[in-house]
Amino acid sequence: MAGSVTFTMIKPDAVSNNHIGAILQKINEAGFTIRAMKYTHLTPESAGKFYAIHKERGFFNDLVSFMSSGPIVAAILEKDNAVADFRDLIGATDPTKAAPGTIRAMFAKSIDANAMHGSDSDENAIIEGNFFFSELERF
Ligand code: CMP
Repeated sequence: MAGSVTFTMIKPDAVSNNHIGAILQKINEAGFTIRAMKYTHLTPESAGKFYAIHKERGFFNDLVSFMSSGPIVAAILEKDNAVADFRDLIGATDPTKAAPGTIRAMFAKSIDANAMHGSDSDENAIIEGNFFFSELERF
């Protein structure tokens, strides 16, 4: 059975372009409940650790540099079938391929500055949520 939580980050581009409010509204309207949330700023070291799964990819250094370039909003979201439904809501990784009305189609500029992160599996949703939040920070 599909899990009920996913993890997301509103990335530095969307934060600096003042899209936090519009993005949270889209998330709530899509039926997700916020279980934990924080406004924070990744260091290059912490961004590299979070994205360690991509460390052999050619885009890794640019990804780490971008994700530590400014503040982000990290959150754990709850909904039935959360991982798949959230990936539908945010759209394709490359915003030029994202369906109209998705968050990336509306707010992202490029595959690097693509506005949002969304977990790709139930297992990673738990790992990623645990990276940012302690038990005491979840409701
Ligand atoms: P995200 O969902 O946060 O996961 C890894 C990120 O790497 C991805 O979003 C993109 O912003 C970034 N990225 C840059 N180039 C690529 C690529 N060619 N394929 C996948 N992700 C990429």
